Amino acid sequence: MFLRLFSGLTKKEMQDVFGILLMFAGAASGLLFQDPFVCRCTESNQCYVALGQRLHLPMPLEDGLELKITDKTSTSRLIVKYRKIQSNPPKPNPSRWQFVNESKTMILTSADRNDSGTYNLLTTDANGNSKGNYTLQLNTEAEVSSVKLWYSCLFPEVMKVYCSADGDNLRFNWTSDLNTHPQLENGTSTLILNKDHQGNVTCHVENHVSYNNNTIKLHPCPGESVFYK
Ligand SMILES: *[C@@H]1O[C@H](CO)[C@@H](O)[C@H](O)[C@H]1NC(C)=O
Ligand SMILES: *[C@@H]1O[C@H](CO)[C@@H](O)[C@H](O)[C@H]1NC(C)=O
Ligand SMILES: *[C@@H]1O[C@H](CO)[C@@H](O)[C@H](O)[C@H]1NC(C)=O
Ligand SMILES: *[C@@H]1O[C@H](CO)[C@@H](O)[C@H](O)[C@H]1NC(C)=O
Ligand SMILES: *[C@@H]1O[C@H](CO)[C@@H](O)[C@H](O)[C@H]1NC(C)=O
Ligand SMILES: *[C@@H]1O[C@H](CO)[C@@H](O)[C@H](O)[C@H]1NC(C)=O
Ligand SMILES: *[C@@H]1O[C@H](CO)[C@@H](O)[C@H](O)[C@H]1NC(C)=O
Repeated sequence: MFLRLFSGLTKKEMQDVFGILLMFAGAASGLLFQDPFVCRCTESNQCYVALGQRLHLPMPLEDGLELKITDKTSTSRLIVKYRKIQSNPPKPNPSRWQFVNESKTMILTSADRNDSGTYNLLTTDANGNSKGNYTLQLNTEAEVSSVKLWYSCLFPEVMKVYCSADGDNLRFNWTSDLNTHPQLENGTSTLILNKDHQGNVTCHVENHVSYNNNTIKLHPCPGESVFYK
């Protein structure tokens, strides 16, 4: 990461770099939803789950169930077929899924990218007549992590603040405690400040499953400099 950042700088700029502060992501999770994440096919048609998160899909209480997935390549696969009268509990395929007979819940221990797709759940009554047809779009996203901030002085009066993070479908926004109210750009990972600013600027990063942030203290621009946090 730092090699990539430094590689764009001239030797003069390198010499001007005088602040390298690192903040390591704490153990605290920025997940927006509790683990396990519960997604109900009968109530929502779209769910977002974090990669590695545990997922519960409660099934409607019917005599028969059939759950299929259609993945990105339009391939359909049967995951589980259940009849209330059957003597053995059903064995989902892939085996990363479990069917808990007592609670009629499908459980995925750890969501993976290839669990994304369109799930179709068909329910039937004891005579095999159709009762329900539910469609659920399941999306997986990597959590927001490693929010990094740095800035450069483009001119003595103009600062450019950069924010980067790991994760999928990132959305950025900014807040500051500056006395003046700069135009904080929404939804971008860079921020241009047109005056000689001091104070803290916070970059907020979120996606559908998680949230994280980091703050950098801006110092007056002495010249061409790059600061890191
Ligand atoms: C930054 O994120 C941490 C962890 O998610 C949270 O505890 C904190 O309240 C956030 N700070 C702000 C200013 O949003
Ligand atoms: C599953 O649970 C139902 C009650 O909800 C029970 O009647 C049935 O015997 C159980 N099946 C198995 C295989 O344990
Ligand atoms: C999905 O990913 C998991 C873990 O990476 C792997 O074990 C499994 O075989 C994959 N399944 C499919 C259908 O590609
Ligand atoms: C369930 O609904 C989907 C679209 O809503 C449809 O394509 C599919 O044929 C239906 N399946 C059955 C068995 O009715
Ligand atoms: C920026 O993001 C934070 C965290 O997601 C949120 O609390 C805040 O309302 C957002 N601000 C704007 C202006 O969208
Ligand atoms: C950022 O976007 C939010 C909602 O999209 C809006 O309410 C807010 O005024 C925007 N802030 C700025 C500084 O453009
Ligand atoms: C700026 O952030 C630092 C920690 O990063 C904190 O100690 C300081 O109080 C903050 N300043 C303001 C004005 O909030």
